[in-house]
Amino acid sequence: LGSYHARGTRSYSVSSAFDFGTNLFPLSQTTAGGYAPLGAPSVTSLERYTGLRDGSLEKHKTLTYLNGLSLIVGLIIGSGIFSSPSQVNFNAGSPGAALIVWVIAGVLAWTGAASYAELGGAIPLNGGPQVYLSKIFGEMAGFLFTWCAVFVLKPGSAAIIAIIFGEYVVRAFIGTEVETISPWINKGVGFAGVLFVTFINCASTKLATLVGDISMLFKFGALLAIAIIGAVVAITGVPSKGQPNQDWKNIGWFEGTSTNISDWAVALYAGLWAYDGWDNTNYVVGEFKRPNRDLPRAIHTAMPVVILCYLMANVSYFLVLPLRTISATDTIAVQFGAKAFGSIGALILALVVSASCLGALNATAFTSGRLVYAAGKEGYLPAIFGKIGVGKSSSGMTGNNRLQHRSRFHKAFSWLCGGSAAFGYTPVNAMLFNTALIAAYVAVGEFGTLITFYGVAGYTFYFLTVLGLIVLRIREPQLERPYKTWITTPIIFCCVSLFLLSRAVIAEPLQTLIVVAFVLAGVPAYFWRIYKRDGSIKLPNWKFWRR
Ligand code: ARG
Repeated sequence: LGSYHARGTRSYSVSSAFDFGTNLFPLSQTTAGGYAPLGAPSVTSLERYTGLRDGSLEKHKTLTYLNGLSLIVGLIIGSGIFSSPSQVNFNAGSPGAALIVWVIAGVLAWTGAASYAELGGAIPLNGGPQVYLSKIFGEMAGFLFTWCAVFVLKPGSAAIIAIIFGEYVVRAFIGTEVETISPWINKGVGFAGVLFVTFINCASTKLATLVGDISMLFKFGALLAIAIIGAVVAITGVPSKGQPNQDWKNIGWFEGTSTNISDWAVALYAGLWAYDGWDNTNYVVGEFKRPNRDLPRAIHTAMPVVILCYLMANVSYFLVLPLRTISATDTIAVQFGAKAFGSIGALILALVVSASCLGALNATAFTSGRLVYAAGKEGYLPAIFGKIGVGKSSSGMTGNNRLQHRSRFHKAFSWLCGGSAAFGYTPVNAMLFNTALIAAYVAVGEFGTLITFYGVAGYTFYFLTVLGLIVLRIREPQLERPYKTWITTPIIFCCVSLFLLSRAVIAEPLQTLIVVAFVLAGVPAYFWRIYKRDGSIKLPNWKFWRR
């Protein structure tokens, strides 16, 4: 398999990319995206793969360390820490056990993120797991990931966040007194939020990252405020609205801890949802200015900070709210605000949580759009999704020219977007496709079902990808790895995710079956798309562990 396998002499870095790609992804007459025909020397398949041509995304390397940080933190801190504590607490059985679950989930997410950091350094291309799985297990594995991620995982998880966003916004306006709200109102508001971030992300990368950076400040602010309020209430014992607050000296920290292993697994899933999103920067590694330095850095700052914030927030919840309330509410932050400052507090916290969810929607739109774009480029989806800019134009340059200075408004807006023509340099078609799928999930989705499906399918691919890291270590020990994690890290991650998956199979056999059926449906789709692209069918590489 060419120079990629030559020990120690090649890396997947973009600069050395132009001569190994041809062997990995043989070009054919019908290259995705309509690029150069077979044998044309100027376009290697890696170029096709990463889109390193004029006007394509990776040409505009704009992302910095701070952007990376806000892409991770921006997606991780979304809805979860403001809504999952009830499930964690209910299933773990006691505050102490719940805190342990939060630590375990955080460390697990961190081991996953560290493993992804190594993969991202060794294979610094846009696309995340799609690229890693393709390189390690063969293209079918990469395709199946993309199949699931594009059609279910990304839009499904965005839909969950959107629904929670809607719930919080509606709560902010009608208060906590009204018991039931029509789910359609929540859903409508949630979808409006999705449209908003889609617009921003289609307009410009700079604008999208700016929104991300601002919302990151909000999130940290909110969590810090929750922690400080908790500490103040605990120390001064100031009751609000005449109700006495939780007396921390009387909390039975480990009273009622569950001894049932399935309960712990469910609690862990709920915690992991709140930490999910640690893979977010891996989708856009190709757009980093200095990926080798900034990707591991971003991950290793984000994870400990998030874990610390989550622990502080949870301790605060325990100090301020009665345990019964915590286990029973889906909008814990609002209850918290109401308890501390009455209805004004509830309003403020509801707004801040909405902002946090909106930031998470923004971060997920940013990367999902690029995932769909990569899939379009690679021929997994129709080529129109692999275009930059509006409509059918094949590159950003054309899109840019067509759009340049159309109107005064566009001019002004483009200036706001950091100088480049608005809507000229983003994967607009891919974004819109993603938004359409989110809309469908928001409409039909029900929170509980979506979360289980997401957990099972998501962890299957996390597991496979991190397993791939181990395979790659054995198969290609000399491969250049700018960042290398301890080998225990991926092993721990693989073991715990296997445990989680096995519990899910037992607890939710039907859901698991649906996931399996969906993945299998991707197999004929794979053959169809590859045949369409290459004119021949590529069988999976069963001996992936051999060099
Ligand atoms: N952790 C996020 C939250 O609490 C959810 C992240 C969803 N994951 C994703 N890859 N979109 O809301």
